[in-house]
Order: sequence, then C-alpha cells, then structure tokens
Amino acid sequence: MAFQKTILITGGAGFIGSHLVRLLVKKYPKYHIVNLDKLTYAGNLENLKDIEDSLNYTFVKGDVTDEKHVDQLFTAFRFDGVVHLAAESHVDRSIANPMSFIETNIVGTVVLLNAARHHWKETAGKRFYHISTDEVYGSLGETGYFTEETPYDPRSPYSASKASSDHLVRAYYHTYGLPAVVSNCSNNYGPYQFPEKLLPLVINNIRHNKPLPVYGDGLYTRDWLWVEDHAAAIDLIYHQGQAGRTYNIGGNNEWKNIDLVQQLCDIMDQLLGRPAGTSRNLITFVKDRPGHDRRYAIDASRIKRELGWEPAIQADEGLRRTAQWYLENTEWLERVTSGAYQKYYEEQYGGE
Ligand code: NAD
Ligand code: DAU
Repeated sequence: MAFQKTILITGGAGFIGSHLVRLLVKKYPKYHIVNLDKLTYAGNLENLKDIEDSLNYTFVKGDVTDEKHVDQLFTAFRFDGVVHLAAESHVDRSIANPMSFIETNIVGTVVLLNAARHHWKETAGKRFYHISTDEVYGSLGETGYFTEETPYDPRSPYSASKASSDHLVRAYYHTYGLPAVVSNCSNNYGPYQFPEKLLPLVINNIRHNKPLPVYGDGLYTRDWLWVEDHAAAIDLIYHQGQAGRTYNIGGNNEWKNIDLVQQLCDIMDQLLGRPAGTSRNLITFVKDRPGHDRRYAIDASRIKRELGWEPAIQADEGLRRTAQWYLENTEWLERVTSGAYQKYYEEQYGGE
C-alpha cells in the first residue's frame, strides 16, 4: 500500500505513546505509523493489542540509543516525521539511577536528531516533534503559572535530562534548520499508566488493602491532564504547530496530592462497594522525595489561542474512568507489577 506519510513514534508501547499510536493509527489510515520501543519495564505491547494487526501499523523492538539501528530504520522507512516520546520517565527512579536517564533521554534524543538531520536533505514536509514535560521549568510557589517563556530550572535528574534534550532539539532547529517543535506537558493520567506513578499506585494499593504512601506533607501540587487530551494536543501540534515553536499543554486542573488521593479513595470505595472512608484509612505519610518540586501549573493559553486546543475531559469524569479501567484490567495490573517491579516496590516502600 502507498502511504501518504510515514511517521516514527518512539516509546509507543508506553503510557502516553500507546494512546498516541492508537489515535494516529485509527484516525489516519493513510499514514504508516512505525512504533520503535525498547520494551523496558514501562513498555508493554498489550497496551496496543486492539490495533496491533492494523495494516498501517508496524512495531519495531529497538533502542533509541542504537545509532546503527536508528539509521537503518530511517533508510528502510524514509520517515516524514518523528514524534519522540521514548524516555525513562519516573522521577524516583532518576534519583536512584540517573545514568539510564542520561543515556535514553539525552543520548537517545541526539541519536534521533542526527538521523533526521542526515536523512532529511530536503526538509519540506518533515517534522521532528519532541515530547517533553513541565518539570523542566522547576518549582512554583503558591501562585503563578509556567509559560513558554519561563526560564528552565530543572531540579531532578529526570527533569535535567529532559531539559537537556529540549535544548538539544532547539539547538538543531537553530543550527541545522531541522524542522523541530517541542511541547511541555503537565501530569498525565488515565488507562495504561505504569503503577509506579501516583494514581495507578494508589488504585492498585487500595485493591490490595495496602498503605497509600503520600510523600512529605502531601501538599505538593500537580496539574493533571487526561492522557487522551494530551494525545489530541500532540496530533494537533504535529500537523499545525510552527517549527521552532514551543507549546505548553496542561489540564487547568490543579490538585494537592493529599486532596487527589482522598478523592480517589472515595471513588474507589463507591466502585468497590465499600463503606465510605475505608480507603482513606490506608493513607500513610512517608518520607519525602528528595528535591521534591512543590507546585507545577501550566499556562496553556498559547495552544488554545493558536491551535484551538482545550482539554475535553474534566477531573471528576477522568478520575472515575481511570479507577474503573484499572478495576476492569486487573490482569494487566498483576502482570506489570509482578517480577522486577515487585523488587523495586519493596526497595522504595519497604515491602509493605
Ligand atoms: P512511559 O515510561 O510510560 O513510557 C516510556 C516508553 O519508552 C516505554 O514504552 C519504554 O519501553 C520506552 N523506552 C524507554 N527507553 C527506551 C529506549 N532507550 N529506546 C526505545 N524505547 C525506550 O512514559 P510516559 O509517561 O508515557 O511518557 C512518555 C513521554 O512523555 C516521555 O518523554 C515523558 O518525559 C513525557 N511526558 C510524560 C508525562 C507524564 O505525565 N507521564 C508528562 C509530560 C511529558
Ligand atoms: O509533570 C509531568 C511529569 O509528571 C512527567 O514528566 C513525569 O514523567 C511523570 O512521572 C510525572 O512526574 P511526577 O513526579 O509529578 O509524578 P508521580 O506520579 O511520580 O508523582 C505525582 C506526585 O505525587 C508528586 O508530587 C510525588 C507524589 N507521590 C508520588 C508517588 C509515586 C507520592 O506522594 N507518593 C507516591 O508514592
């Protein structure tokens, strides 16, 4: 079949990547979507079961730091575009082991940038889209928002590695004219998120009547976005964003961690038919994350003004849908939390 475009998605077997791959494969039958993923603990082909046989979808197992393989893929598939999501994504793991974050998030990004630069002699119709995080902007006080002009101030090895990759992408735009675009998004939530992250961890622990670990005083604030709203924003920016430009993406949905956890407890009690307050009793304040950023909040007015994007799913509906999905997909949960993850969990939370 002759495709209109061939797009490389890296990290497409992960949480956000799988939602993006599904969206693009279904929405654009004339695009060939090639998913390059190393399948680390966070990548799971089960996330894409429903579209794996689609004629316009190809999965390639591989590492973005493998220059030779990436080069071969550019030669074989003649990509028109790249949407780069592959990363080590968990802040706590970056504190325990920064090196894999440097390798995948920084070196892997440069490998892809070099391949695009060398293969795209003609840049018309080409696009290199780097998916990044609001954590590069550092930490806010009680008020204010991150805009696209907020100076970078990363404070964890994860956010420093993402900041570094953002700078490199912009450097390739300015130095080599690579048609690159970057977006920086707030905390995503929804189905298929690995249960080391706050929301699925809490849901899973409630299922098992385990303590719900809340770091420090629990008054840290995050801006939560339904993952499919992020995928829709990526689709829009890929097609309509301006090269060399940055777009902030956020949910306009700030929660203090403790309030969010309590809300989720109440939803879980209802869904599980337990007496009100049962799950809240599991909340346990634990040792804080070192260098924990106090508050993130995104000003997403640029993407709204210039591209007409706004989140479609509000918190009440999104949280309920998320809880429901994990309760309906306990086999997925059990599989991804067995084996190596169990060891990580015990090291992190003392075997509770
Ligand atoms: P994730 O950890 O769920 O998935 C990462 C995927 O990348 C996995 O499928 C993994 O197998 C793959 N991967 C890791 N190392 C690789 C390598 N060396 N080569 C090829 N594949 C590799 O992450 P996520 O939460 O879906 O995040 C995706 C991207 O979005 C990341 O770049 C992250 O920084 C960014 N982001 C995430 C959030 C969020 O809230 N989760 C918010 C903003 C930005
Ligand atoms: O802001 C975007 C970022 O959001 C992404 O770039 C990251 O890839 C993603 O992991 C996420 O980072 P956070 O550190 O904000 O997410 P996490 O789910 O790990 O934690 C959310 C908040 O909850 C944070 O303040 C730490 C706190 N927390 C987390 C865990 C895992 C707890 O209190 N207890 C926990 O057990």
